[in-house]
Formats: sequence, C-alpha cells, structure tokens
Amino acid sequence: MTWQPNSWRDHPIKQVPDYPDAEKLAGVEAKLAAMPPLVFAGEAQSLKRQLGEVAEGRAFLLQGGDCAESFAEFSANNIRDSFKVILQMAVVLTFGASMPVVKVGRVAGQFAKPRSAPMEAIDGIELPSYRGDMINAMPFTEKDRVPDPKRLLRVYEQSASTLNLLRAFAQGGLADLTKVHSWVTEFLSGTPQAERFQELAGRIEESLNFMRACGITPETARPLAETDFYTSHESLLLNYEEALTRRDTITDEKDWYATSAHMIWIGDRTRQPDGAHVEYMRGIGNPVGLKCGPSLDPDELVRLIETLNPDNVPGKLTLIARMGADKVRAGLPPLLKAVKASGAKVVWCCDPMHGNTIKASSGYKTRRVNDVMAEVRGFFDAHDEVGTYPGGVHFEMTGQNVTECVGGVVDVTEARLGDRYHTHCDPRLNGAQALELAFLIADLLKQRRDVGANLSEAV
Ligand code: PEP
Ligand code: CO
Repeated sequence: MTWQPNSWRDHPIKQVPDYPDAEKLAGVEAKLAAMPPLVFAGEAQSLKRQLGEVAEGRAFLLQGGDCAESFAEFSANNIRDSFKVILQMAVVLTFGASMPVVKVGRVAGQFAKPRSAPMEAIDGIELPSYRGDMINAMPFTEKDRVPDPKRLLRVYEQSASTLNLLRAFAQGGLADLTKVHSWVTEFLSGTPQAERFQELAGRIEESLNFMRACGITPETARPLAETDFYTSHESLLLNYEEALTRRDTITDEKDWYATSAHMIWIGDRTRQPDGAHVEYMRGIGNPVGLKCGPSLDPDELVRLIETLNPDNVPGKLTLIARMGADKVRAGLPPLLKAVKASGAKVVWCCDPMHGNTIKASSGYKTRRVNDVMAEVRGFFDAHDEVGTYPGGVHFEMTGQNVTECVGGVVDVTEARLGDRYHTHCDPRLNGAQALELAFLIADLLKQRRDVGANLSEAV
C-alpha cells in the first residue's frame, strides 16, 4: 500500500504507447526528472482551496481548452485568444452565478490522447493510431506513427513557454477588469454574442467607475488588475508525470506534487480501481479530476473516491461527468445519490463534450451545440432532483474561428465543417459558440439563484 511516484509501475496499465527503444525512453525520463518543475506546490494548494469553495457550493468551476494541444498550432495568438474567451466566459458566469469563478485551462500539457483502437488501417496498411503530439505524429506513415520519446521533451518545453505567457497575461495587465472591452477577439466582434458581452462590459465599467470614485482602483485592489488562471491536463503518460513529481520543500505539507500542471485528471478509459492511473493519482497533493462516463457503476465510484480522497478534503476531487445528452438524465442521478449518501465532499463538473461526439455524413467527427447544451441542462436538472450542487463546466474550445462543432447562433452547418477544421483530436467549440454557451449557462445559474432566493423568502 505504500505509495511512491513510481509505484504505478506495479499496476496494470492501459493506453501506454509501444516505444521501440526502451533505452532512449529511459534517457528522456532522466532528462525530464532533472528539469525544473512547471508549477509550484503552493499554487496547486491554492487551486485546491478554491475548488474547496466550489465543493461547498460557494464558487463555480470553468475548465476549458483544446481537446489536444499540438506543436503545429502553437502560437502566442492562439494562446492569447483562448485565454481571452475563457476570461469572457468567466465574467459572464460570474454575473450569472453571483459567485467567484475558478478558471482552469486544458492547456500547457494537454498533448496525449487515449484511443479506442490501438491501430488504424487504411487500404490494407496497419499503423499505430495517432495518440497526440506527445507520442507520435498525425500523418499516416510509419515514421510518423511510431512513438518517439523525444516528443516528451518538446511537450515540456512548449508547456513551459505556454505557462510563462499565461502567467504574464493573468498577472501582467491583460486580465485587468478595466480592459474588459478589449477581451473581444477580432473574429468575435460584430457577432450577437459579442454585442451581448459589450453590454455586460458596459455594466462592469459603470461599477468600476463607481468604485474608482470611492478610491478602489486596480492599483489599490489587485483582484481588479489580475486573475488566477490554472492549468490542467489528462495525466495519461505516467512516466512523464513521475519524472515531474517532486516533494514539496517550501510549504509545510512536504507532500509529493505533480508539477506538470496545477490539476490533472484520470480519463474515462483509465479509471480502473486497481490500475496504474488511479495508483499514481492517489499519492499526489494536487487537486485531481476523475472522468465519469455512462459505464461507471455507483459503488465503484464510491470506492474510487475513498482511494483518491481518503481524508475527504473538499476541493481535492472533481468528478467530471460526461454522460451524453441522451443518457445524463437517467445515468447521472444514481451517481449523485451514491456520492451524496457516502458523505464525500466533491466538486461535480459537467463535460458536455465527450458523450456527444457524432460522425457527420461528410465523415468529420463533430458535436451539435444543441446536444452540448442539452447535456448541461440535464446535468443541472439531475442535481436539482438529488439536491446536490452542479459546480462547474468543462469544455473543449478554442478562441479561434474554427468550424468543428455544428450549430450556434452564427450557425456552423454540416456542409461548412471542412472550412476550418483544425483540431488534432475532438471537435472544439469556436469562440462564438463557447461564449454563447456561457450566456446560456449564466441564465441557468441565475434562474437557480432566483428560485433559491424565493424559496428562502418563503421559509
Ligand atoms: C478528453 O477529455 O479529452 C477525453 C479523452 O475524455 P474522456 O476520458 O472523458 O473520454
Ligand atoms: Co477530447
């Protein structure tokens, strides 16, 4: 039962790439183990505290970003635009919920993908499936598809510079609430969502003017000038995580932390209670996530919670439900009830993306904005039914004007999917669709708040 950063190696594991050269892999792991940590334990602890507020129903979680980051799409503008859309969504949700919104990106480390089939066959040729830029490359050639350990080092480097820029944006002025108008990216301007956002921005400006008159300005009140923005990814490649697992020497806890990101999560395909991924995650001090798909049994979930959060620390564990719009209403309540009955303190978050992937007739993998929204509604209703708190949402999205998901006010049709389909894995919401959903969710949050207020008045 004793945990070590490498004790996962004694457990059965799924989704590991087949590296042809074990020595080369060990060399890369040793190099990574000598690299500085990407995040500091104190930051992971503050995220855990903020998620603790979510678990208690006093804050809301917004998690979002690419399905898979890539080497090809790496640019300052992409990072900036996704960051801006997340800030906009967060402001919209803050208004809806009248609560702090905890912002966590799927970014600076989200490069490895679990795959349903290990091999892909085209015209009688069979090659390993593409598993994300952390493992191999997309073109269908043997050279590209054979896993290459050097990619782990490139992921580390790209994550470090992405994180550097995000920290600069969060703390260096871009997130300043007095600049809220400038968060509208070029392609969004002129859309109905942008107009609705500018209206909101106008109200924020008015409040800030009032506060300025009272002597409260970004110079005197740092929370107006900067924001906390955290990073997260699926911890699929445990050798990478192990190499970046460090004992905290600065804060009092002296625990082990994954320093590849503030928060990491276990995917729906790797959550076996005795498996390697659960073993690794149970020993780190970071807040962790667990994807909960339709095949998860309520008793197994309770057992997983006991393993992952034995001290029942609020904020330690986020359960990310990804049922599908057609399954959420029947599938989620049994899980909510079991967790409630166990007394476990968790954050419940809705991933309305991964249960709603369909194939368009043109062959593109896509998702309907309407299905995404239907799952969010089903998620809220399930919580109302059981009397639990719907604590957050988890989106695959980008700030770019892509055409990967169908629907939305600026309607992306199936016929237009090919126009700008750039994702390296699953279809993402574009900036306009993401903002539109934020407004819809803000309305749901506001309704709940109003109903809650009426109820307490009636008591
Ligand atoms: C993902 O979040 O990209 C993912 C693969 O999700 P899941 O494990 O829920 O399928
Ligand atoms: Co995905």
